[in-house]
Amino acid sequence: MGEEGSLLIIVITLVISFVIGITLNHFWPLFFNNYGTTLHVIPKGTFGWPLLGETLSFLKPHPSNSIGTFLQQHCSRYGKVFKSHLFFSPTVVSCDQDLNYFILQNEDKLFQCSYPKPIHGILGKVSLLVAVGDTHKRLRNVSLSLISTIKSKPEFINDVETLALQILQSWKDKHQVRYWEEARKFSFNVIVKQVLGLTPDNPQSALILQDFLAFMRGLISLPLYIPGTPYARAVQARSRISSTIKAIIEERRRKHVVDGDSKKNDFLEILLCVDTLSEEEKVSFVLDSLLGGYETTSLLMAMVVFFIGQSQTAFDRLKEEHDNIRSTKEKELLNWEDYQKMDFTQKVINEALRYGNVVKFVHRKALKDVKFKDYVIPAGWKVLPVFSAVHLDPSVHPNALHFNPWRWESDEQISKKLTPFGGGSRCCPGFELAKVEVAFFLHHLVQKYRWEVEEGEQPIAYPYVEFKNGLTIRLHKNST
Ligand code: HEM
Repeated sequence: MGEEGSLLIIVITLVISFVIGITLNHFWPLFFNNYGTTLHVIPKGTFGWPLLGETLSFLKPHPSNSIGTFLQQHCSRYGKVFKSHLFFSPTVVSCDQDLNYFILQNEDKLFQCSYPKPIHGILGKVSLLVAVGDTHKRLRNVSLSLISTIKSKPEFINDVETLALQILQSWKDKHQVRYWEEARKFSFNVIVKQVLGLTPDNPQSALILQDFLAFMRGLISLPLYIPGTPYARAVQARSRISSTIKAIIEERRRKHVVDGDSKKNDFLEILLCVDTLSEEEKVSFVLDSLLGGYETTSLLMAMVVFFIGQSQTAFDRLKEEHDNIRSTKEKELLNWEDYQKMDFTQKVINEALRYGNVVKFVHRKALKDVKFKDYVIPAGWKVLPVFSAVHLDPSVHPNALHFNPWRWESDEQISKKLTPFGGGSRCCPGFELAKVEVAFFLHHLVQKYRWEVEEGEQPIAYPYVEFKNGLTIRLHKNST
């Protein structure tokens, strides 16, 4: 080949390289982001239908102790991290233990809590559950100090136990109960007592419960503000609860000033003395506590009873533990030392949280392009860490589809593989309160009764969990 031929080849090579370069430069970012030397790809997956994307399949009900067909199919097709289009936004769904942990630990740095807009409409702007950045930090600090003050008072655990005994007393002549309803009654009574100092027979308790149920129904409804819709009723219910709470606050203030009434042991008493919160924030705070602590705790109580009802060995071990702590025949109430001895009970609670999945996932968004392992999550995308997928992942929890409290003998890496309360700077502030409630209720329940769960019952994730038939249990009194 002559000199001209070589020159031609060089020119052609340069032109081809130039064209390829231009083409790649244009289309590359659609598929890849080049950060330094490593290539990071947007996770595989599909966006589904325009607008709705794959939201309906993602939300399709399934037993809460399974991951459901949507996640099953997507994980086997695309892996544990995949892209989708959910809740009107391009989304990265994570069923990966490490990525979930990374998301939770990087709140307000790389990711941020981002619940759908209609939820803000109902909860209000200053709700701790949806607040972000400095507002969240300020509200959360108050919440943490409030809960630790309440926990340090003996009245707290005494109240929990007394309310548990009242529920069990009401079963005296019954052979079967709809347990989920009873659990809801109990956890509502506990939370209104802790927060507002109200007893179950107080007319204001009934008023709040009625409005609160409408308020919760709205949270999971279509966000249409048309009179009569569950959403509109929820917004109205919120404003009524808000007025009731304001009236209770006023009444309490007046009693202090006029009557010099003795101080009570509830959130409200402490809230009244906090001057860093506005009136609206105080009301919101009460609502957050009711919302965070009512449904979730009653579900955990129901999960424990559901799974223990099917495991004789776990029941026997649990009963043995509680028999040894204190007989229910003793008049004396339980104390924190007794609670520390409830070691197997804690394992049962952990296992019910893992296997039952009270909260399936949480909502986040990426604040900037985030690289993790080989992936990039583009800025502005929704990110959903799915806790249930990790809880039921057999590579994380051997024999994951079996209820086995003994698996919690070692606490190795527990904060990564068990995240029923979330994690990082948004980790549930009420987790210990919920555990105490369940443990104290169980203390009396296992000593008084054995039970059988009605055939065919199952916890269903809608994705908020419900017991299909209300969890009816048949009761058998223990002879000793
Ligand atoms: C079994 C019972 C409970 C479960 C499974 C549960 C679960 C959770 C989860 C997963 C979060 C994190 C949400 C997120 O990251 O977006 C959370 C936050 C929260 N929970 Fe709980 N919770 C329970 C009981 C309670 C109780 C008893 C209270 C109140 C006394 C409470 C109050 C809250 C509040 C106020 C937040 C917001 C915290 C923040 O954003 O900083 N929860 N809970």
